[in-house]
Amino acid sequence: MPAYVDADRLVSQHCAIIASTGAGKSWLAGVLIERLTAAAEIPIIVFDPHGEYSAMQVPRTEEGRAVSERVEIYVVGKVDVSAQDKAFEAKYGSPRRYIRIGLNPRSLPLRALERLLEGFYGLTDAQRRILEEGWQGATAYGDRQPLTDVEELISEVLEYGKQAAPSGYAGEMALSGLAARLRALFKSPIFLEKYGDTYAGEPVKLFDPQRLLAAPGVHVLDLSGLDLVDQRNFHGGCPRRDVQGGRQEGQPPLLNSRRGGPQLRAG
Ligand SMILES: Nc1ncnc2c1ncn2[C@@H]1O[C@H](COP(=O)(O)OP(=O)(O)OP(=O)(O)O)[C@@H](O)[C@H]1O
Ligand SMILES: [Mg+2]
Repeated sequence: MPAYVDADRLVSQHCAIIASTGAGKSWLAGVLIERLTAAAEIPIIVFDPHGEYSAMQVPRTEEGRAVSERVEIYVVGKVDVSAQDKAFEAKYGSPRRYIRIGLNPRSLPLRALERLLEGFYGLTDAQRRILEEGWQGATAYGDRQPLTDVEELISEVLEYGKQAAPSGYAGEMALSGLAARLRALFKSPIFLEKYGDTYAGEPVKLFDPQRLLAAPGVHVLDLSGLDLVDQRNFHGGCPRRDVQGGRQEGQPPLLNSRRGGPQLRAG
């Protein structure tokens, strides 16, 4: 039985696909992404925790070829994905093509950083005040945050933040406690420490959500090499405004079509 989805409503409202395990949810998501890509010049970002959407790079049909050519895979983090690569090559007979990416810790929004630190390690009131002051100082570079090693970043945060620290021993403890928490968080393999960083001899590029959103096509963020904590770090660290927030009030819908615009054949 043919079923149709209103493409405008699909991309301008929330949507969930709910069914029992193995019913074909991921498959349907893949079909919707494929049809959207064929119907309109839009950027689509796929957060892929299990690495199952790499398959979209391989056309299943001749008409699927145009879409598959517009699928770009990004492996997130300095992590071993050789098992995934081997499985892909065994299944499809050609190597998986991807770009490896990482985040600049300095481009984390303060709120996201607070949420992550609070969630994993907890923050005292004093540490929170130091962080708010210090992060503002250490990230006052506008759109182009420099990528430095983590120790350099942390000492800048403490330098700018120490005016907000209580005096004496309590202040010392708050500063060193905050430094330890930042160090623990930034050890995650999703973060980069220098320009031209590499993993196993391959370059790791800086994740630039603005650039992805400016490029029509399917951008698959393969998180399958990360453990759950680092997947959460990455979700939390993605600038919400860019990747998760969607459009702002008053801006046109992603698919710039009137009512009765593209209808996607979903089934
Ligand atoms: N319409 C379809 N045509 C052909 N094969 C399909 C179709 N839908 C699903 N499949 C196949 O069925 C299997 C299960 O589908 P899928 O992985 O999409 O299920 P799921 O609901 O996402 O499962 P899970 O809950 O485990 O994530 C896969 O091997 C998939 O290739
Ligand atoms: Mg699934």
